[in-house]
Amino acid sequence: MPGIVVVGAQWGDEGKGKIVDVFAEHADLVVRYQGGSNAGHTLVVNGRKTVLHLLPSGILRPDTLCAIAPGVVVDIFGLVEEIKNLKALGLLQNPKQLMVAETCSVILPFHKTLDQCREKALDENKIGTTGKGIGPAYEDRAARRAVLFGDLFDEKTLREKVELAIAEKNVLFKDFYGTAMVSADQVVESVRPLLDVLAQHRSRDFSLVLHKALKAGKRVLFEGAQGTLLDVWHGTYPYVTSSSTLAANACVSSGISPMAINKVIGVFKAYATRVGTGPFPTELNNETGDRLRREGAEFGSTTGRPRRCGWLDLVALKAAVKLNGITNLSMMKLDVLSGLEKIGICTAYKIRGELVQDLSMFYGELDHAEPVIEYLPGWNENLSRVTNLKELPRMATSYLDFVGTQLGTPIDVISIGPGREQTLWVKPLFTE
Ligand code: IMP
Repeated sequence: MPGIVVVGAQWGDEGKGKIVDVFAEHADLVVRYQGGSNAGHTLVVNGRKTVLHLLPSGILRPDTLCAIAPGVVVDIFGLVEEIKNLKALGLLQNPKQLMVAETCSVILPFHKTLDQCREKALDENKIGTTGKGIGPAYEDRAARRAVLFGDLFDEKTLREKVELAIAEKNVLFKDFYGTAMVSADQVVESVRPLLDVLAQHRSRDFSLVLHKALKAGKRVLFEGAQGTLLDVWHGTYPYVTSSSTLAANACVSSGISPMAINKVIGVFKAYATRVGTGPFPTELNNETGDRLRREGAEFGSTTGRPRRCGWLDLVALKAAVKLNGITNLSMMKLDVLSGLEKIGICTAYKIRGELVQDLSMFYGELDHAEPVIEYLPGWNENLSRVTNLKELPRMATSYLDFVGTQLGTPIDVISIGPGREQTLWVKPLFTE
């Protein structure tokens, strides 16, 4: 079965958007499988930059069908804005190009308010969420009071579902956070103008469409958001997002069998970044960290926050390979390392005096982890115009070899800039 998962192998922002857009040339269907508009996938096509928060990154290719799976939490206001923006660019002309599962949970403005109130109240212990309402929306799902995408189209059901969803929250808003309460009428009114656009994308038989596509041998790409170390079960809890970011969740979220997946492509940057609070053993709070941020334009595409930057962490990456069953790797932003005299790579942690090379548990342990850094010589050449692997400087090739060998997984794709054409294939991943 030709299902392929593209998963972030670090703390998000690995460049999944670019690589899914590149891979989508070889795909029939691209499915976004978790998270919501906390994600920011930046794509540069013919020099034009598009940032997607919710739409699958295959959407810029008119012949690629795109789908939002039930496990995604959908900010319907943001979704309509993204759809309108794309239409204004002459894209997404055929509404059938995008389908949204009617069992997706919907994010409404009160989810964002709650997310932001909570973060404010946490004060020094903030998670550093994006404030997009992701946590509260997944909480409602688990509490079985979520408003689902399909509920939007029947006003009576919508009103009842909203009333259920806001009952407890209004107590919190009024008595705990001292902020304005919400009314179901307000919510229903605000949703009404969106319905015509949303109805065009409603899918009532989501997993059936996927089953048929997979059975017919169509290539389906499952696009993850955030990254492995932000996974709610296996990441650096509690400094994580509220969904499972791992490859296996592509199946749960979309309603397909694990047997349908035959490749898991892990995407990672040639260095490491993290936004928000939480442990980050290889973080560089110095001129080199600033340089990576500057050269790599490491500012959040959703919140604009500066990203924390550091050396590549092989202990964390090895865990990501295992947790996701990564079969192939894509290394992104290799060009950003040009000009560094030496490049650090974390090959182990020292935790309470013990050398640790393999870790599968990130709870608590990382707080005490001192990174063991090996240095490789850098290179000065600008890589952004390299068109062939043979043109890479010798030291860049050594860096790639070192990382690939340590991870025991092939790096098959290398990205040297944001454009589609700035992609080097070590091995073709898609044979037609
Ligand atoms: P939330 O997903 O908005 O609840 O945020 C929880 C944590 O995940 C915070 O540390 C965020 O900075 C981080 N996060 C959420 N989405 C992304 C992303 O797309 N890239 C990187 N970090 C993210």
